[in-house]
Amino acid sequence: MRLLLAHAVSAVALGALGTACSSGGTSTSPPAQAPCPDLSAVTCPATPPSYKTDVQPILENRCYGCHGPSGVEVSSFNLTDYADVLRLRGDVVSQITTCRMPPPDAGQPTAAERTTVDEWVQCNAPNN
Ligand code: HEC
Repeated sequence: MRLLLAHAVSAVALGALGTACSSGGTSTSPPAQAPCPDLSAVTCPATPPSYKTDVQPILENRCYGCHGPSGVEVSSFNLTDYADVLRLRGDVVSQITTCRMPPPDAGQPTAAERTTVDEWVQCNAPNN
């Protein structure tokens, strides 16, 4: 019980993420960041987003700080190479679309950026 509680508290301590992602919050104070967009209807578009010109720059801007060279999470989740992103795509897309990543204290992708990554994964993550 204590352990569960500690987990719950640390999840909250991770920031406004829970608040930002949950819908219908009763808080009267304004959210610290935009609510997590609902991407449940995202599918692969007729023209898949490009890894090189669309997806990789988003990862570079939003993720490399921790998941790139000298980042805190580079050893377990290095997102700088296509092959690794391809292998981790299921994890990457679930983290991005549920707004668990990036952490709330890091710069947040726009809804359009989250959508682009989601679409690209829905298109089977081409190296295009
Ligand atoms: C400020 C640092 C930071 C940034 C920026 C960041 N991450 Fe993370 N990420 C972490 C840390 C720390 C962990 C390990 C602990 C955890 O899971 O919360 C992690 C874990 C992950 C995991 C593994 C989660 C799991 O448990 O399966 C994935 C996938 C991931 N991040 C993807 C991303 C993506 C994609 C981005 C960019 C959109 C991103 N992260 C941005 C710090 C960061």
